[in-house]
Amino acid sequence: MTAGNTHVPQHIAIIMDGNGRWAKQRHQPRFMGHRAGLKAVENIVKQCVERNVTVLSLFAFSSENWRRPSKEVSLLMELFALALKQQVKRLNENNIQLRIIGDITKFNSSLQKQITQATELTKDNTGLIINIAANYGGRWDITQAVQQIAVKVKSDQIVASDITEALINSHLSTADLPEPDLYIRTGGEQRVSNFLLWQLAYTEFYFTDTLWPDFDGQALDQAIDSFNHRERRFGRTSEQLQEKE
Ligand code: IPE
Ligand code: IPE
Ligand code: MG
Repeated sequence: MTAGNTHVPQHIAIIMDGNGRWAKQRHQPRFMGHRAGLKAVENIVKQCVERNVTVLSLFAFSSENWRRPSKEVSLLMELFALALKQQVKRLNENNIQLRIIGDITKFNSSLQKQITQATELTKDNTGLIINIAANYGGRWDITQAVQQIAVKVKSDQIVASDITEALINSHLSTADLPEPDLYIRTGGEQRVSNFLLWQLAYTEFYFTDTLWPDFDGQALDQAIDSFNHRERRFGRTSEQLQEKE
């Protein structure tokens, strides 16, 4: 997909990091950073729609984030519930499809119900797909895929030699989505923190010191611009790619 001379990545995945530090800089409680982070999410969704991005994957809560103080965890859950309550109708009106990936069985039943209703309501929408990772871990994703496959082998639906990369891929929570083209992490850390492991084999990484609540359309354009200066070789040589053009 192109906008002017810019090639827009089809699938953008973002680790939205730095909310706590954003609040700390302002001598506010961490929660204020998460609230500001939610505003940034709303804006980035709009920016992605304008740029014709196909899939936006957002890391909202990792399987390791339960280790945080229980007060922060419960405030994050409340914020998630509030965001769904306030935003789902508008997302639906804008033809946006909302998906949640992760082990949602660990959430309280009312949040689980909200998630199911939101995904059900928007499942046939054909615009931007927002993929929210909540209680998600890349290792969890691979593990649950392996469990599903093991059940199929055990019940003779498939044999061990049927287990291919494509079969594993089809059991991941992102099965029908294209692999991420661009992976953005805000907040200055340069690590994956267990977000989408299998899916990242050939994704381009972009790290920025900008804290998530400050990440806006201009910052997104900088990331896309950086992406546009990469040569994605997928194992081939640069010369081979030039021959193909
Ligand atoms: C990311 O911001 C949001 C979540 C993990 C929910 P942080 O809360 O990790 O912010 P920092 O890294 O402490 O600044
Ligand atoms: C990753 O951020 C998780 C989310 C943004 C939801 P963290 O702040 O939890 O990552 P670490 O602990 O610094 O690796
Ligand atoms: Mg952090």
